[in-house]
Amino acid sequence: MPYIMFSLSSILRNCIHGAVITHAKQTHVQILIHGLTHNVTLQTDLLLAYSRGCLLNARQVFDRMLERNMHSWNIMMSAYVQNSMFHDALNVFDEFLNSGMKPDHYSLPSSLKACAGAGDVSLGIMLHGMVVKLGFECYIVVSSSVLDFYSKCGKLNDAKLVFERLSWKDSVAWNSMISGFAKTGLHLEALSCFRNMLQNKAKMDPMTVPSLLNVCGKLGDVTKGKEIHGQVLKNTVLYYDTVINNSLIDLYSKCGCLCDAKKIFYGMKNLNLVTWTTMISCFGVHGKGDEALRLFERMKDMGYKPNRVTLTAILASCTHSGLINQGKKIFNSIRSSYGFEPSMEHYACLVDLLSRFGCFEEAIRLINGMKMVKMIPSASVWGALLAGSLIHRNIETGEMAAHHLFEMEPKNASNYIALCSIYDSRGMWKDASRIRLKIRRLKLDKTPGCSWTLIGGKIHPFYQGNSSFCVDKKTRETLELIIRTPLLVHSEVHSYLSL
Ligand SMILES: *[C@@H]1O[C@H](CO)[C@@H](O)[C@H](O)[C@H]1NC(C)=O
Ligand SMILES: *[C@@H]1O[C@H](CO)[C@@H](O)[C@H](O)[C@H]1NC(C)=O
Ligand SMILES: *[C@@H]1O[C@H](CO)[C@@H](O)[C@H](O)[C@H]1NC(C)=O
Ligand SMILES: *[C@@H]1O[C@H](CO)[C@@H](O)[C@H](O)[C@H]1NC(C)=O
Repeated sequence: MPYIMFSLSSILRNCIHGAVITHAKQTHVQILIHGLTHNVTLQTDLLLAYSRGCLLNARQVFDRMLERNMHSWNIMMSAYVQNSMFHDALNVFDEFLNSGMKPDHYSLPSSLKACAGAGDVSLGIMLHGMVVKLGFECYIVVSSSVLDFYSKCGKLNDAKLVFERLSWKDSVAWNSMISGFAKTGLHLEALSCFRNMLQNKAKMDPMTVPSLLNVCGKLGDVTKGKEIHGQVLKNTVLYYDTVINNSLIDLYSKCGCLCDAKKIFYGMKNLNLVTWTTMISCFGVHGKGDEALRLFERMKDMGYKPNRVTLTAILASCTHSGLINQGKKIFNSIRSSYGFEPSMEHYACLVDLLSRFGCFEEAIRLINGMKMVKMIPSASVWGALLAGSLIHRNIETGEMAAHHLFEMEPKNASNYIALCSIYDSRGMWKDASRIRLKIRRLKLDKTPGCSWTLIGGKIHPFYQGNSSFCVDKKTRETLELIIRTPLLVHSEVHSYLSL
């Protein structure tokens, strides 16, 4: 009997490495035949074997265990976390606590990961308390996971406190700090944290590079971006990463460096759909609609199937270059050629294209047609119509779009300002001042928009309506041009890249 037990156990442990589930199943049968179902060690080995590829079987074994050791609880929780089933992981953790057991340095990291994944902030904070109380702070894995939890939940102040207390800051810790700053929009903090990381000789993580490049793109800081690109070139792990190359294309695109973006794109060996989409969008925002269309065709010829984001990118490219017929043709073929219904973004893009070039009747027909497919036009659709009305000083459609927007987002000052500008441009002072009064009554004139620009190596913020630095005529004209250019596609491709 002991020999059978030993060999079953060793078979199970081996199949963990080979991930041979059928082997595990056969061994499972042997365990049942030899009546060994009460041996906790064997059951735990079986659980581990199943957890690597067959979560349902693992759960069955787990549920039937008469006795569970610390190891078996940890296997079940971490299996759920690895499969992003955070709520299931937390349910197991709850059961675990109720059975009177105390978490250890294996269960704490996975349960903290589950809290971040499930967005259960209060449980995570409680777990942090447990870490301190049970004396696990000195375990770097545990403290790093507390830090990562705070960073993922956007609680950067708490993350910073944990980070500062770390006895040894490894690259995991640095990288979660940087990603946290980047995700919360604390761009400058992210970059300064990155600088400190390099000074401390910690390694760059492939997952963090895209967030950093994203930050540089948002700040328009191409110098910093090139510096990070330089680090990438020196590091073979990063050099062969498609996600990083995609982020580089996006960075150069955002900073207006079409040539650099093209250089990356045409040098790439492993392209994916995101790569094509990013490059199409890059041509689009640089006003190269024809090239965007050519790339779109080439992508399809190479066997890639465009998804919703790709179609948004190509439609927006048509808008930037005024390719009305091509845009309409692509929109009308979405259902038949790509097998899905046009999404809200696609409608918004086409409304933008049509109204930007004064085809208001067609734009309104398109919006009315949305009812037929049971879609309620979103604020982005009305916003596109309003923007077009502003360009063409069209009062009738402008008022219609604005009134829909006032109902949908009563606190958004941009819509009031747009309508006001239409009235101003037509010399309708009375109507304009009526809207201005409304803006003041709704107290919408308090929070000016803010952006940044890089001048002489320093980042300068500038606010809507005033500027904290002197701008010459050329800069001001360029700024005004940028403001008039639609940025819809940028933000979407961006959120796609950071998925
Ligand atoms: C359970 O099986 C292991 C081998 O996998 C063996 O070493 C151990 O003695 C068994 N325990 C009991 C209580 O039979
Ligand atoms: C990333 O881009 C560089 C430069 O274009 C290229 O040499 C490298 O092979 C690319 N990596 C991948 C994974 O395509
Ligand atoms: C406000 O409206 C503008 C223009 O229509 C739009 O770009 C922006 O996303 C809106 N903001 C919010 C918070 O809804
Ligand atoms: C511009 O507006 C911002 C925010 O209201 C303010 O902090 C700043 O001092 C203003 N700058 C100038 C030059 O008026």
